[in-house]
This record gives sequence, C-alpha cells and structure tokens, in this order.
Amino acid sequence: MGKSFKIAVLSGDGIGPEVMAEALKILDAIQDKYSVVFERTFANVGGIAIDVDGKALPEQTVATCKASDAILFGSVGGPKWETLPPDEQPERGALLPLRKIFGLFCNLRPAIIFPALTSASSLKEEVIDGGFNLLVVRELTGGIYFAEPKGITGEGSERTGFDTMKYSDAEVERISHVAFQTARKRSSKVCSIDKANVLSTSVLWREVVERVAKGYPDVELTHMYVDNAAMQLVRWPKQFDVMLCGNMFGDIISDEAAMLTGSLGMLPSASLAEGTFGMYEPSGGSAPDIAGQGIANPIAQILSASMMLRYSFGMIEAADAVDAAVEKTLNQGFRTGDIFQGLDGERKVNTVAMGDAIIANL
Ligand code: IPM
Ligand code: MN
Repeated sequence: MGKSFKIAVLSGDGIGPEVMAEALKILDAIQDKYSVVFERTFANVGGIAIDVDGKALPEQTVATCKASDAILFGSVGGPKWETLPPDEQPERGALLPLRKIFGLFCNLRPAIIFPALTSASSLKEEVIDGGFNLLVVRELTGGIYFAEPKGITGEGSERTGFDTMKYSDAEVERISHVAFQTARKRSSKVCSIDKANVLSTSVLWREVVERVAKGYPDVELTHMYVDNAAMQLVRWPKQFDVMLCGNMFGDIISDEAAMLTGSLGMLPSASLAEGTFGMYEPSGGSAPDIAGQGIANPIAQILSASMMLRYSFGMIEAADAVDAAVEKTLNQGFRTGDIFQGLDGERKVNTVAMGDAIIANL
C-alpha cells in the first residue's frame, strides 16, 4: 500500500452534500488506481453546524481540520440562516475564520471556458471563440477584510462605519511569488490589479510586485487599475492569464471572471497556506433552490478535489486524469440541467449520473 492522506470533509448546506458524494466517489476511484488511501473525517460547517452545534464553525470541526492534510469544502448558507447577525451567518461565520486560523493566504480561482460550453457564455461568439483560461490569484488573509481597526461607532447621523485597507510589504511579496510561479506553468503573463491612482495600499502593492518581478524575468508583468480591469474582462478576456489581486479586488474580479464562463457550477477553487495545507471548494454557492433534488452539477466539487490532489498531495498525474475525464465527459455531451442547452448530442443527466460518467472516463 502506498501513501495515505487525511481529508476533513466539510459538506455544509444546500447542494453541498449531494455534490460532495460525487467528489468522494472520484476519490474512491483514484485510491484504487494510484494505490493511495484517503482517510476521510466528516465535520459540520455552516448552517447545519449552527443547527446542530450552535455555531457556523464549531471547535470540533476546527480540530478535525487541524488533524488533516487538507479540507474538502462543499458550500454553506441558505434562506434559513439569512436573518442571523452577519458575523454569525454561515458564510462569514465559517469561511473567514477558517481562512485566518489556517493561514490560507492564497486563493486560486480559475475561470475556464470549456470548448464544449462556449455557447453558455454571456459574451459574443467572436469574443469567446477558442475559449479562455485565466486564473485569479487572490490574497485571502489580509487587506480590508481583516485589517484593524474596523467597526461602527457614534450615534445618530454621526454614526460611522469604518474599515482599514492595509497591506504589508511581506504580505504582498508572498502572494506575488505565488502569482509569478504559477504563471510560469501557464502562459507566463501576470497582470497585477490595483488602484494605485488613489490608494496608498496600492502604491505599495505595485512597488512590491515590481520588485518581486525582477526575480522572474521570463514572466511578463503588466499593471491595471481595477476599474479598467473589470471593463477589460468583459471586452477581451483572452488578454489575461494570471490576474494578481488583493483580497477585495480579487473577490469582485473572480466573480466577474467566473460568470463570463457561463458555468458557475463548473469552477473549483483552492485556498492555500504556506506548505501543502489547503482548503478546496466550488466557486458557486449552496444553491438552496435546487438542493435535495439530485440535479446539481457536481463538476465544480470534483474539480476542487482534483486541485486538492494537485496542490496538497502532489498527485499531478491523478489530478490531470480527473481534469481530462471531466472534459471528455462534457465532450460526450453529458449535461446537468444548469449547462443543458438542448443542442444536438447533449444528454441531460442528474448529479449521480454525471459522477458515474466521469468515473467511467477516468
Ligand atoms: C467568497 C465569498 C466570501 C468573500 C464571503 C462569503 C465572506 O464571497 O469566497 O468570495 O467575500 O470572500
Ligand atoms: Mn466572493
């Protein structure tokens, strides 16, 4: 028997458990093929954790994650918990502390148009032709999300809400290295996103990125103001390869990039710490409207498991095999409802059948 890896499985709410079941089936198949063992421990997170344990991220769940090599995350949230105070809601109450506790400073969010699905994009055919494949590298544990002071003070019309936008040299340097190293394995282009015409944070950001770039003379670096970048993304997305962003700009740009692919249910993400620990989750949400019906698209969850194999377990060959199996399944015409367009050769399938088809292609 070969290696063994420990995975904390946090399926969460909505479609989370349904799509997670398919990702775990894929991991079963990988175990057999590559003689590895994936030890899984299930733990509550999000709304289900609020209901069962009284909060979105229970201590027991944190302990399970600490004892693991990686976290495979489903999705959290739903109408049932939307009236709770913001800090206690499933999304904020679970995701932000997980990022902080585990030092998940680097968020990789690929936005890929699969050739079989170009017509699902909201962009015109000539803009999309040939597809695109870009990667948002988002700093995830700093910036305006976490810097202090933040809060609400005062009374009446003087009541004031405030947040602090702040980045240290070291924080920018660390995420920049990831962007340049990742770009080297792609088409060697980094576009750094900032607002250096207004914000001091961004002036420093740009200086540090320039300095780090000197160590990567083979990678082409450009800079773009975030407002222009938002515009360029819809105008001509193919100009981008790696987009390097701070926390808040990356939050916005990655949603925009994801939607351009027309297939939110298809995109995975990775949140990485220094070393090999990481958390892997689909980019789409918990989709409460279709939860429990067995019709959700499991591909984002499956591709998230593939990113886990790649980045936390170093199983590049297995990850490539999963990615290829997904692409082949799409080329064969298998479609869950969200990506079914009624075109010739398409076969509408449910969650389980999509998982089975991908395994058959593995
Ligand atoms: C995301 C989400 C989170 C964020 C929220 C739910 C806290 O939008 O992962 O992009 O803003 O980072
Ligand atoms: Mn977001």
